[in-house]
Amino acid sequence: MFVKINVASFLFALFVGLVEGSNVIESIVEDHEHSIGTKWAVLVAGSSDWYNYRHQKGSLKDEHIIVFMYDDIAYNSENPRPGVIINKPHGPDVYKGVPKDYTGKYCNSQNFYGVILGNKSALTGGSGKVVNSGPNDYIFIYYADHGGPGIIEMPVEPSIYAKDLNEVLKKKHDSGTYKKMIFYMEACDSGSMFEGLLDKGLNIYVTTASKADENSFATYCSPKDYEDTCLGDLFSVSWLENSDLQDRRVETLKKQFRRIRKRVLNNGTEGSHMMEYGDLHIHEDALSKYMGSNSPEHTSSTNNYPSNSRHVNQRDVQLLYLISKFQNAPEGSVRKSEAYRKLSEVISEREHVDKSVKHIGQILFGVKNGPLVLNIVRPAGQPLVDDWDCLKSFVKIFESHCGSLTSYGKKHVRGFANV
Ligand SMILES: *[C@@H]1O[C@H](CO)[C@@H](O)[C@H](O)[C@H]1NC(C)=O
Ligand SMILES: *[C@@H]1O[C@H](CO)[C@@H](O)[C@H](O)[C@H]1NC(C)=O
Repeated sequence: MFVKINVASFLFALFVGLVEGSNVIESIVEDHEHSIGTKWAVLVAGSSDWYNYRHQKGSLKDEHIIVFMYDDIAYNSENPRPGVIINKPHGPDVYKGVPKDYTGKYCNSQNFYGVILGNKSALTGGSGKVVNSGPNDYIFIYYADHGGPGIIEMPVEPSIYAKDLNEVLKKKHDSGTYKKMIFYMEACDSGSMFEGLLDKGLNIYVTTASKADENSFATYCSPKDYEDTCLGDLFSVSWLENSDLQDRRVETLKKQFRRIRKRVLNNGTEGSHMMEYGDLHIHEDALSKYMGSNSPEHTSSTNNYPSNSRHVNQRDVQLLYLISKFQNAPEGSVRKSEAYRKLSEVISEREHVDKSVKHIGQILFGVKNGPLVLNIVRPAGQPLVDDWDCLKSFVKIFESHCGSLTSYGKKHVRGFANV
């Protein structure tokens, strides 16, 4: 996922596991003709990335937008601009006017599934809005948050496992309640959510920020006034900015993919490989089919991606935040010692989880082979694991003995899968 963190605090919250997950479902009624169909978008953003989407809403109507967000950023005490969230340096407020359907503890996976399936009786709390779609409708789902192999987080436990997500999508397909669906996902290891799992023939096209075994990257890190955080995730800001810039009636999903791929790869350094899954022929569709028509701010002027913006591996954004807090606190102050304490705590938590997993691998496979076995990546086209129930119970047992995996520790889910 990206660093959608506009605000340090937001980030911080994210990392302490409070955060994120926002799902926005938007539906766009483009025309009253049933034959044309309604556009729905479900956006799940771990932080604020998705807020950007509002800039592109075009003809989308709020009553057709379903948003999941933890909603603790805008008024976070660390936000230098209370009530305002930006997702690029000097960017506009992307918080104002965004619908909030599922916030706080209601920003969870059960509600996410219920919303996608249009099943109101599966919901707890929230606005009750669901993707109440019909056979001619178009659905756009966008998710940005922390992930690991075969798993993505919601602000509130439990996390979403790849197998379950794909089952929900299949169920949605079997209910005959959409024509085509696209899913954009930003998370570390996001390819693993679909690799070898998403059936073809469901009329679903997926783009992920990274391969199955790769971090995704935060961008716009440490800009003025937000020194200790990053304002966006690289894949997310890339598609959002591209969608703002291009004429969405002409720009196809495929063109967008090709155009932003380079930026996301970032010359092979501090970048990731975007992936496509599912029914690839769908990428011939224009963006407007899913995202609505052009935003009022649309211009055809040339792009002005800041070339010098800093990128940070998603998993390290928390450290960036904590180190910067420490460095910026006055020498000898309470703030400095507090920042030091927090930083040490997080580093030792990370060491603890890394060591625990390594230890398990060594007990099972030997001192030398243990780490090798844990890190094996299955060939492309194969899912992370075959027995997902076994994987889930492994994670549960690990957590009951060794403590929470945390966002950082989710990178070890591949090791568990290999065990
Ligand atoms: C809707 O959700 C409820 C509660 O989880 C479940 O019992 C029911 O089977 C679901 N309905 C459909 C059509 O999936
Ligand atoms: C991209 O990488 C190549 C080879 O590593 C290097 O020569 C080139 O300068 C890089 N370009 C940028 C913009 O960093």
